[in-house]
Amino acid sequence: MSESAKLSFKGQEFEFPVITGTENESAIDIAKLRASSGLITLDPGYKNTGATTSAITFLDGEEGILRYRGYRIEDLAEKSTFLEVSYLLIYGELPTQEQYENFSKEITHHTLVHEDIKKILEGFPSNAHPMGVLSSLICSLTAFYPDSLNPVRNKEEVDMSIVRLIAKMPTFAAWAYKNEMGHPVNYPDNALDYCSNFLKMMFALPAEKYDVDPVVSAALDKLLILHADHEQNCSTSTVRIVGSSQASIYASISAGINALWGPLHGGANQSVIEMLEAIKADGGDAKKYLDKAKDKNDPFRLMGFGHRVYKNFDPRAKIIKKAADDVLEKLGVNDPVLDIAKELEQAALNDQYFIDRQLYPNVDFYSGIIYRALGIPTDMFTVMFALGRLPGWIAQWKEMRENGEPIGRPRQVYTGENERDYVSMNKR
Ligand code: SDX
Repeated sequence: MSESAKLSFKGQEFEFPVITGTENESAIDIAKLRASSGLITLDPGYKNTGATTSAITFLDGEEGILRYRGYRIEDLAEKSTFLEVSYLLIYGELPTQEQYENFSKEITHHTLVHEDIKKILEGFPSNAHPMGVLSSLICSLTAFYPDSLNPVRNKEEVDMSIVRLIAKMPTFAAWAYKNEMGHPVNYPDNALDYCSNFLKMMFALPAEKYDVDPVVSAALDKLLILHADHEQNCSTSTVRIVGSSQASIYASISAGINALWGPLHGGANQSVIEMLEAIKADGGDAKKYLDKAKDKNDPFRLMGFGHRVYKNFDPRAKIIKKAADDVLEKLGVNDPVLDIAKELEQAALNDQYFIDRQLYPNVDFYSGIIYRALGIPTDMFTVMFALGRLPGWIAQWKEMRENGEPIGRPRQVYTGENERDYVSMNKR
């Protein structure tokens, strides 16, 4: 027998079906709420509102669980590769050997971008933030692949667009960095694996030979896996709602990159390092900054702490914290901000304000420390997040399209002026 929920309002009673997912999460289906009761719901930030059903990622904020298509994030981070996880998220199953080889071969052979895109890149000043460059270059693909403009009419074009996005995003990301450095761009090297190719495009200089450190490449691959999807977060919801208007996948992903940029979302990994550097420069007094974070009159927040869903440890943060220790040891890097981060974490985990609000380190708290050790500059950290999140955005966009979801158009409660007559104050 299916469950239902009753609502009583102004002496009337309304009943709505309750749906339950495969992990026993339940939701009231309010599709007929307004038609039957005249009411809508109000939920700023959608803290209690489900926008969709999805079969891609499951996370349990109370238990600190994260799974992609049913596979535990701990297993995938330990045993899989970013391209295999990308295939899993987008197509729903782990690829066979043949499927994996075809997928990675396709991607390898689409890493090159149209030479005219260099002219767009050259239009950016060197102080342009790489996230703005990245979202612009991704959106420019709509100009070079006009068949992608209507994903409903050109379904077969969608698979090609998916390959182009995964293949070209590292090239664009590395070029955004080169633009900032004022260095000439590097072209992809198809003899290298996904992460090694990216690192070489990032760091190779014309005047010298560049060999990718396998420790660095492996650490980056793990970080990309950990960022690959996270159900209906801010940027993914942006990708889905832009795609719901039948806009191209390139335009939808470009919008997602811009949503991720904000410091409350993916931009937090850059803000964490800036915060840790500021604490170090100010004498390393973690408690002083903890008190600032608790002070309602102080806009300072403990960046990398807290989460809309995780009210327990973010499982990704646990894996990244261990990886940070491993990578810094392997690379022989001693980063004082790592010590400040650990001191801050311990202080916060034992502070009543943070305990009461269930604030734990999130994915962004330690990731920047690894990126730094890998030689990646701070303002490229959110670009790295975008590189990782790309297959998740694609998978969610594809699911929305294949489910034929309606255009996203929330309602509102109007609180402005009531009707009034027009009398101009301007004597014309
Ligand atoms: C990501 O959604 C996702 O899945 C996102 C993500 C993904 O993979 O896509 O996981 C990636 O975006 C991780 C989050 C990165 N952002 C940060 O680290 C920025 C710092 N954290 C916060 O700004 C905050 O915790 C959010 C934005 C992450 C969540 O905010 P919510 O859910 O809207 O919670 P809230 O702001 O209502 O906070 C609840 C209480 C408030 O105090 P009270 O008003 O109840 O007294 O907790 C306090 C907040 O002031 N609080 C913090 C805090 N985070 C929340 N106080 C100090 N420092 C913090 N970091």
